[in-house]
Amino acid sequence: MRPELLLLVAAFAVLLAAAAVSADSPYKFFTWNVTYGTIYPLGVPQKGILINGQFPGPDIHSVTNDNLIIDVINSLDEPFLISWNGIQQRRNSYEDGVFGTTCPIPPGQNFTYILQVKDQIGSFFYFPSLAFHKAAGGFGGIRILSRPLIPVPFDDPAGDYTVLIGDWYKANHTALKAVLDGGKMLPFPDGILINGRADGSTFSVQQGKTYRLRISNVGLVNSLNFRIQGHKLVLVEVEGTHTLQTTYSSLDVHVGQSYSVLVTADQPALDYTIVVSSRFTSPVLASSGIFRYSNSAGAAPGPLPGGPTIQVDWSLNQARSIRTNLTASGPRPNPQGSYHYGLINTTRTIRLANSAGPVNGKQRYAVNSVSFVAPDTPLKVADYFKISGVFRVGSIPDYPTGGGIYLDTSVIGLDYRTFIEIVFENSENILQSWHLDGYSFFVVGMDGGQWSPASRNGYNLRDAVSRSTTQVYPHSWTAIYIPLDNVGMWNLRSEYWARQYLGQQLYLRVYTTSTSLRDEYPIPKNAILCGRASGRRTRPL
Ligand SMILES: *[C@@H]1O[C@H](CO)[C@@H](O)[C@H](O)[C@H]1NC(C)=O
Ligand SMILES: *[C@@H]1O[C@H](CO)[C@@H](O)[C@H](O)[C@H]1NC(C)=O
Ligand SMILES: *[C@@H]1O[C@H](CO)[C@@H](O)[C@H](O)[C@H]1NC(C)=O
Ligand SMILES: *[C@@H]1O[C@H](CO)[C@@H](O)[C@H](O)[C@H]1NC(C)=O
Ligand SMILES: *[C@@H]1O[C@H](CO)[C@@H](O)[C@H](O)[C@H]1NC(C)=O
Repeated sequence: MRPELLLLVAAFAVLLAAAAVSADSPYKFFTWNVTYGTIYPLGVPQKGILINGQFPGPDIHSVTNDNLIIDVINSLDEPFLISWNGIQQRRNSYEDGVFGTTCPIPPGQNFTYILQVKDQIGSFFYFPSLAFHKAAGGFGGIRILSRPLIPVPFDDPAGDYTVLIGDWYKANHTALKAVLDGGKMLPFPDGILINGRADGSTFSVQQGKTYRLRISNVGLVNSLNFRIQGHKLVLVEVEGTHTLQTTYSSLDVHVGQSYSVLVTADQPALDYTIVVSSRFTSPVLASSGIFRYSNSAGAAPGPLPGGPTIQVDWSLNQARSIRTNLTASGPRPNPQGSYHYGLINTTRTIRLANSAGPVNGKQRYAVNSVSFVAPDTPLKVADYFKISGVFRVGSIPDYPTGGGIYLDTSVIGLDYRTFIEIVFENSENILQSWHLDGYSFFVVGMDGGQWSPASRNGYNLRDAVSRSTTQVYPHSWTAIYIPLDNVGMWNLRSEYWARQYLGQQLYLRVYTTSTSLRDEYPIPKNAILCGRASGRRTRPL
């Protein structure tokens, strides 16, 4: 290891010890060289973003509480950041890798992320958060396995596969970004990829054995339906929550979401087609992969499995059927049902409505009429150095106002250790998908029409899943409960990527007056400083 890295890691260990946290969790080291490379996922050459030469990038395999030391070398000609979808960065929003928390890595420079996958299990992914890089690659799977003595509510699978699905454009990311910067909407995507390929991604299995597939939608806009010819999917985990093991013939995965299913190879030894198709679109985009038995005698006969296309109710019913297994363990030995979220009173309700429209003749997207614009300095960094004038807490109303869209750096101020309700209201004719960094929240309800306080009577206050990304159906609402137990500056964003890029995001500043390391870590010693924080000093060792 490089000496300066050793120092950093030592500093982090000291920090953990000072915070009275077990510092004996293993450290895992990664060095990632991020480069451009020509890729051909839809048959035409385009400019891709590779990590160590790979598209998609390498998987991260970890165990609950592991420390992940990831040195990202930016060999692109533009600033770059990676963010970690679903990794909670407890007490440490500086490592979140979005522009509101972390200064971009300048071209030709490197930055070492120091993450801990504290008290987490499950399936997640990382992605490049700046510009429109996500349309070029730079994403990969993250899995967090349970610690050895913590029971998992199913037998060890014979194999464990990352399945990254997502819609894709033939245009390179700079061209797509130029369309958005020009104030226009993006066209319909050109195809769907499964692990970077439109066709032929192959998953090898042996007859009689059971496999885990960790499916994440890393695409830009479309909800996707996943299915395998002749096989059932048993859902076991959603973004860190072990679910009741329910069998589905196909599964809807909205942008930004992750699901684990078990699939038993219980059919004659043949090649079965995996189909991934777009939801709520016309035309329907589809692509295929292969679920290949060893000693396969060839392609399985018969039609490819059909799936839902435009039906919203089908998807809503499936979403409501996904429940937490209250008796199964999560990251800790106590069962997931031992935290009775339904008995805690919320102290604040925030209603967030998405909208779209022009500002100064250019397409923008907004939340409660505010279309987010990034300031010159990351919010979290400005907060740390007490640099005023970068953002205002309360720069977005708690309720939709119905007013015209305007630009601002929207930040909601929230008190640490409170328990709040957020209702996402979608009166548009699109499928919305919201993701919150730093947290996992309880998805207590979703339904068509307008939310009202009476909608609370239908909430699931018993076994709702706790996750970090939730969909909101067209002309519908979704309600979540969040225990605000993680101090920091946290991005709440649409995972519909053009919308996120053009302003449909904001930050939640979860604040305490405490300066204890038990509540929040100081800025990392190796933090890059930019904007109005340039030239400041991070803490001494
Ligand atoms: C990163 O990859 C590029 C292209 O392969 C190479 O030129 C460069 O030397 C690599 N950088 C490091 C630090 O390995
Ligand atoms: C990473 O950055 C440090 C300084 O921040 C530098 O000493 C080191 O050489 C860099 N490593 C690579 C591979 O670029
Ligand atoms: C829930 O978890 C328990 C404990 O691991 C397990 O025995 C049970 O089969 C699970 N139930 C369902 C329906 O998934
Ligand atoms: C990206 O696409 C634009 C527009 O088609 C083109 O001008 C540019 O050369 C492309 N860049 C690369 C590296 O392919
Ligand atoms: C929640 O509020 C209800 C009604 O105001 C009250 O009866 C109950 O005691 C409160 N529960 C807790 C845990 O504070």
